[in-house]
Amino acid sequence: MASGNSFYITTPIFYVNDAPHIGHAYTEVAADVVARWHRQAGDDTWSLTGTDEHGEKILRTATANGTTPKKWADKLVTEAWKPLLETINIANDDFIRTTDERHESSVQLFLQRLYDDGYIYSGEYEALYCVGCEEFKPQSEIVNGTGPFEGQKVCAIHSKPLELLKEKNYFFRMSDFTERLLALYEERPDFVQPESARNEVIQFVRQGLSDLSISRSSFDWGVKVPWDDSHVVYVWFDALLNYITAVGYGQDESNFDRRWPATHIVGKDILRFHAVIWPAMLMAAGLEVPKQVFGHGWLLVGGEKMSKSKLTGIAPTEITDTFGSDAFRYYFLRAIAFGQDGSFSWEDLSARYQAELANGFGNLASRVIAMVTKYFDGVVPAPAEYTDVDLAIQAVVQKAAEDADRSINALAIHDALASIWTIVDELNGYITDSEPWALAKDPANAARLGTVLYTALDGLRALAVLLSPVLPQATDKLWEALGAAATLGALVDQPLREAGRFEQLPEGSTVSALQALFPRIEPAVA
Ligand code: MSP
Repeated sequence: MASGNSFYITTPIFYVNDAPHIGHAYTEVAADVVARWHRQAGDDTWSLTGTDEHGEKILRTATANGTTPKKWADKLVTEAWKPLLETINIANDDFIRTTDERHESSVQLFLQRLYDDGYIYSGEYEALYCVGCEEFKPQSEIVNGTGPFEGQKVCAIHSKPLELLKEKNYFFRMSDFTERLLALYEERPDFVQPESARNEVIQFVRQGLSDLSISRSSFDWGVKVPWDDSHVVYVWFDALLNYITAVGYGQDESNFDRRWPATHIVGKDILRFHAVIWPAMLMAAGLEVPKQVFGHGWLLVGGEKMSKSKLTGIAPTEITDTFGSDAFRYYFLRAIAFGQDGSFSWEDLSARYQAELANGFGNLASRVIAMVTKYFDGVVPAPAEYTDVDLAIQAVVQKAAEDADRSINALAIHDALASIWTIVDELNGYITDSEPWALAKDPANAARLGTVLYTALDGLRALAVLLSPVLPQATDKLWEALGAAATLGALVDQPLREAGRFEQLPEGSTVSALQALFPRIEPAVA
């Protein structure tokens, strides 16, 4: 049941030059959690991900592997990028490839429109290019090489030599948009977030924008420039357009109107493309700019951005094979403030798995269900009179649900999880203090015992709903064990923004045994 609020969220589209590592998976999981949240809250949600397949980087990788770029892209999409979505349990609505016909034809349409309106001209260009970034580098990101690259200019991100390119190119009059972009950042402080990212972008644009080279003629792996087929469209110009071509730009206007504008989740390394070039392109085409561009931080290894090219990449399956996809999803979003950098460590992952997921949440669920089985033959008891401690739990649940929704709307995913976890912590304390096992010893306490266990069960019901976007597998099991699937229907159909309302679990439902939600992990033998 859609609420009528359109919510369209995107991930960057990933280069198919290599297989994914956990840095890529991090972007995917963050966007997926936010999408699942909105979807379950009844918003008219659409989530998009996909692959970026053109450009020199892919062409060179394919050539080095003795194949064509299309064959290479097909292989990587089938063997690496689509399986990634399974590995980390992504529920995307669409997957776009920049080699899709629907994309290529709409890129040409967009470009032709800008050309016809005078935003594109041809000129000579000579500048230093980084194939890793697929970008002519600004001065601020050009540094002197060291070691084998001593005496050469290298890219500050990739530490690889830059290439001096001299070509006849087509240019986009991006410099025309400097003032309009600054006004946009001013009028809509939420447009670029977090604040540090916004400041960086404003500072960059204040220096004035240059026109942007948007075509290449020294190779032909890309979308052909419609009025000059000796050029292909610059890979970033092509790639950014995926966000509108995927929802029907130029092909299905009613779908486009329904979905656009989007919330873009991107790594901070590609913020400038999304917060400067992309809105300028849209303004030139007379289209609405995105709703928001959110730049998240990097996963660091040894203090540096994790990357395959620097051989620091960890494959997502290395984690999910042991800990499962739920723990993967939870860990990165809980341990790292979304928007800041964070270091990954196996120790921290294991510690949080054990303390928070297994002992904190998993044990709570198993214990409560086991007690209902033992003391009430598995039938959800009716609550009698609530005391202050029970009402305090209800208040915690209600507040946590409201705070979490607010945090998700602000893309503070870590804060949302921290709020939800107050329910786990408070319920654990409540069980310890209420001592249901002691109450059970005297039949005179039956009503009180029922109230305590009902309060705990309905708290678990709220936890299942609130955590289902993050821990879809564990919460599904819990939902079944609570008997809620039979009485309330599927978990994904539970309205998320009403999760904090108490007394939703029908008394008289039957619980069933719950296997450990987060089984003990035996330490790997060294
Ligand atoms: N193809 C471009 C994006 C085009 S979007 C129109 C691209 N692809 S990428 O495969 O290199 O990166 C995709 C995303 O993964 C980016 O958001 C990037 O920041 C993210 N990450 C890559 N390494 C990362 C970390 N070590 N940590 C966190 N995110 C990282 O850029």
